[in-house]
Amino acid sequence: MRALLTGSTGRLGGAFLSLWGDKEQAAGYDLQVVTRQDCDLSRPDDVRRFLRSVDFDVLVNPAAMTGIEQCLDAPGLAQAVNAESPRVMAEVCREKGARLVHFSTDYVFSGESAGRKAEGDPVGAVNVYGATKLAGERAVIDTSAGALVCRVSWLFGPTAPDRLSHLDHVLERALAGEIQHLIADKYSVPTFTHDIVEWVDVLLAANASGVYHLCNAGEPESWLSYAQKVCALAQRLGRNLGDVRLCGTSLEDAGFFREKRPIHTAMLPARLQSEDLAHPRHWLEAAEVYLKIR
Ligand SMILES: NC(=O)c1ccc[n+]([C@@H]2O[C@H](COP(=O)([O-])OP(=O)(O)OC[C@H]3O[C@@H](n4cnc5c(N)ncnc54)[C@H](OP(=O)(O)O)[C@@H]3O)[C@@H](O)[C@H]2O)c1
Repeated sequence: MRALLTGSTGRLGGAFLSLWGDKEQAAGYDLQVVTRQDCDLSRPDDVRRFLRSVDFDVLVNPAAMTGIEQCLDAPGLAQAVNAESPRVMAEVCREKGARLVHFSTDYVFSGESAGRKAEGDPVGAVNVYGATKLAGERAVIDTSAGALVCRVSWLFGPTAPDRLSHLDHVLERALAGEIQHLIADKYSVPTFTHDIVEWVDVLLAANASGVYHLCNAGEPESWLSYAQKVCALAQRLGRNLGDVRLCGTSLEDAGFFREKRPIHTAMLPARLQSEDLAHPRHWLEAAEVYLKIR
């Protein structure tokens, strides 16, 4: 299958590149990478022209404007990258009879009520990033009934040094002996990027379409509890982190952010499970695999 991949320099795109780009493990994908230079998602007309000029069977789109404050400062750009270009991708895929795998986020939920959210639960973004990603989901689904929209959260996995995850930052700061002040009142579920690639493989093979939550199993974690569990795991695996100093703070007191964050956005991979496509492992089990290759 000829696969076209955007966002290959990112956390999730990098996982597709390393797993599908590796001929040994590529599971039948002939992968072509699309860089920002080939196809700038801030220019939907250029995206249309570029996509019409290449042949592919599946387009995988993890590229996005992901900086929350960046989206607040440039909402028009965020709308173009996160919503208008995905709509164009869905249009061209429909024209060509190709599949689109588009990625979205747990930030489409308002996060007002606790508990893990299933695909059918009500959405309602509270910030520009979430609103543009939600608009992207809707544009993709409305344009191409066969498209897949995969919502993911709190990614970790091998990545470039300038795109480290919370897990990596926590371990680096712990090794440096820093005191870490981490938010204890905002919740989601960490997810291993390599597991997401595997689930997408399964979804494509099953000809699945619509919205799927692709996340590992486990109860909602805060940034603090996530860090505590990762440090304990690393120590159990023999990493000498020294005296780990993690302190809880609240979103309100932290004062890190200019843009609003939703509180309870942990997702449940309900469709993966109920359709018997996959039964995601606990995120700590996946984190153990990651720590062993890190
Ligand atoms: N990271 C998370 O924890 C998380 C949580 C929830 C949802 N998600 C969703 O998961 C997906 C992947 O996220 P990620 O963390 O892998 O993102 P990321 O690390 O921030 O990478 C974003 C990718 O998008 C590309 N990109 C950005 N603007 C572009 C443009 N105008 N034209 C072309 N390419 C552009 C970047 O390319 P450059 O290298 O050229 O900048 C980069 O490859 C996104 O849809 C995101 O919304 C992520």
